[in-house]
Amino acid sequence: MFHISEASVADTSTHTAIRFLPEHRAFTLTGQAFSYIFAVDLDDVVLRHLHWGARLGDDDVSLLIYDAPRRIGSNTWSRPRAHTEELVAHGGLRFDECALKVEFSDGVRGLELAYADHEISGNELAVRLCDRHYPLDVVLRYRVYPGALERWMEVVNTGDDAIVLDRSASASWAPPWLATPMATWLPGMYAAETQVTRAPLGVGRLVLESRRGVPGHAAHPWMAVDGGADEEHGEVWSVAVAWSGSWKIVAEHAFDGAVHLTAGRNDFDLRQPLRPGESVVLPATVGVYSDGGYGELTRRWHTHERQHVVPRPRHARPVLYNGWEASFFTVAHDQQTALAKRAADLGAEMFFIDDGWFLRRFDETAGLGDWTADPDKLPGGLAALADEVHARGMAFGVWVEPEAVNPDSDLFRAHPDWIYQWPTRARSLARNTHLLDLGRPAVRSWMFEALDALLRSADIDALKWDINRPMSESGTAGSEPAAIGHVRGLYEVIDRLRAAHPHVMIESCASGGGRADLGMLARTEWAWPSDNTDALERLAIQEGYGFVHSPHTMMCWVTDSPSYLGKRAAPLRFRFHVAMCGILGIGGDLTGWSDEEMAEAAGYVKRYKEIRETVQFGQLYRLASPRRGEFSSLSYVASDGSQVVLFAFAQTVRYCVQTRLVRLRGLQPDAVYENVDTGGRFSAAYLVGHGLRVSLVGDYASELVVLRTVSPT
Ligand code: DGJ
Repeated sequence: MFHISEASVADTSTHTAIRFLPEHRAFTLTGQAFSYIFAVDLDDVVLRHLHWGARLGDDDVSLLIYDAPRRIGSNTWSRPRAHTEELVAHGGLRFDECALKVEFSDGVRGLELAYADHEISGNELAVRLCDRHYPLDVVLRYRVYPGALERWMEVVNTGDDAIVLDRSASASWAPPWLATPMATWLPGMYAAETQVTRAPLGVGRLVLESRRGVPGHAAHPWMAVDGGADEEHGEVWSVAVAWSGSWKIVAEHAFDGAVHLTAGRNDFDLRQPLRPGESVVLPATVGVYSDGGYGELTRRWHTHERQHVVPRPRHARPVLYNGWEASFFTVAHDQQTALAKRAADLGAEMFFIDDGWFLRRFDETAGLGDWTADPDKLPGGLAALADEVHARGMAFGVWVEPEAVNPDSDLFRAHPDWIYQWPTRARSLARNTHLLDLGRPAVRSWMFEALDALLRSADIDALKWDINRPMSESGTAGSEPAAIGHVRGLYEVIDRLRAAHPHVMIESCASGGGRADLGMLARTEWAWPSDNTDALERLAIQEGYGFVHSPHTMMCWVTDSPSYLGKRAAPLRFRFHVAMCGILGIGGDLTGWSDEEMAEAAGYVKRYKEIRETVQFGQLYRLASPRRGEFSSLSYVASDGSQVVLFAFAQTVRYCVQTRLVRLRGLQPDAVYENVDTGGRFSAAYLVGHGLRVSLVGDYASELVVLRTVSPT
């Protein structure tokens, strides 16, 4: 059975500090390589944002205070952000994109908030603001990590009348003035997620969002801004929304160069009532700053995600086999055990049965909602299959899509009212399903009980938690708007399930990479970045996913050639090398692989296990991007520096560039490195300053070089 090993990861949690400097009434939040500073303004009212970026000392704070514009000046007419407030709330002479807008019961809109008090506790800061007239508190919350800052808000109705939240983003983030701001984001679509895109941030607003109830494929909930950085140089400021539903990031760029990013839940079609005494805690946004270009930015995101977001942060992820592309809906006990045997022969450590295992599930039209194994397909149920898989030394995982229901299911026949719907409107089907109303306590209970029973019915080690439709007709019987209640319900069910079955691992999937946000990754061990398993297209998808998320959470399968979506043929070596850049998975029909292919594949799996700790826990360096040309390369440096793994890829290689010198990064300056296959030795200076010669020939060419240190480090 697969036992996940513990990686030795440095604990950097001591590199943070939060201080209140009474002489300046300033808050300084300090991470390993960033400072975030704001202060209560002279008028005692406004919280003035002062700095987000490179680390500053206490002496610098007085300069910041002295330097900051004092109040909204007469030039408000032309400057939307005459001064930079820590909370951009709607009210008065504020016309820029706001994070908070409310309507009181007497119809008044517009906030007048003033600083009340604050509390520092460990790595957390809470600053309370009170409205000057109405019983409304806003608590700005901060959590400092070595490489990241989390910010969110809590809004509290302390009075006796209802208040409506019109706009409730979690925070506004303000990088310093940039002469020519550039934006980088990760747009895409189904089977083409997370395509790195960079463009000048024009004067005006760039809006990235999902209105679909899940983060979606159209854009990843993340954005970065820089003033001219590249992969290795320059400062970058980036923000992610840790929310598994509809989200929005608005980058507003004023004519004078001021930029701020407002991030949080999407306000589209969302007015949230706050009843007397109620409070709402808004989702976290996460800000990461880099002074070493996009490469260093990525490494800071990865380190943060691995150390402070995902469950089981120090456990290596397994080599997995998933039978979806081999079986689609036609699963059967003997056929799955045949696949399991072949997967075990390759060295897989976990075997997944995907869609198709439950009652009436012959295609997309029926079965979702009834989580009972089909006895015709699996006469011994999941339990017998689990035993077969375990007997071959692998852990056993099962696919589920708990939030969706087919009209042709016993669940829907028994509870046709359990879905989001408007009484007078058609109920849109997507992939022949409706979405269950997770705002209803009864649906939450049913979902927990159904999955709990499933996990008790067999020796199941992992779930693949899928969702394959967006939210529509969002009428709910829940007490919160559907867009909020759904995500809260989802989190509640997963959290209960994880508590009840702590050994179970979960993969997050939404028709590929539609739900791989930090909220979901806080509850799942890894995510499925795309249904597109074509190795060539994967290079771009994986690059984008890997801008933010660690290879430790990025599941990558080797599937059959030609690929089932794009019909592109590629050699096994290329397909394996691409998949070895994240968590190696295999998803082909292994019963059709020849003995030679099986032997070759087993060799790649063996090699992957030798480099897994470096790939999953090391530092990633993008040496040549697939966006820039036919050749791409990336390397991983082990967290203790002792191993370096280099991948190189080319779709097609022209004769004149069959060999290239790839200059490595992140090496230990005095170390000597040895190629573990050829025995060739190189100094770090040589590898960094001159480069490692990599030869690629022909089409779909790839290379994997493993180096280890051989001199004292
Ligand atoms: C969509 C997922 O992305 C696929 O990997 C597969 O699990 C199918 N759903 C099953 O219906």
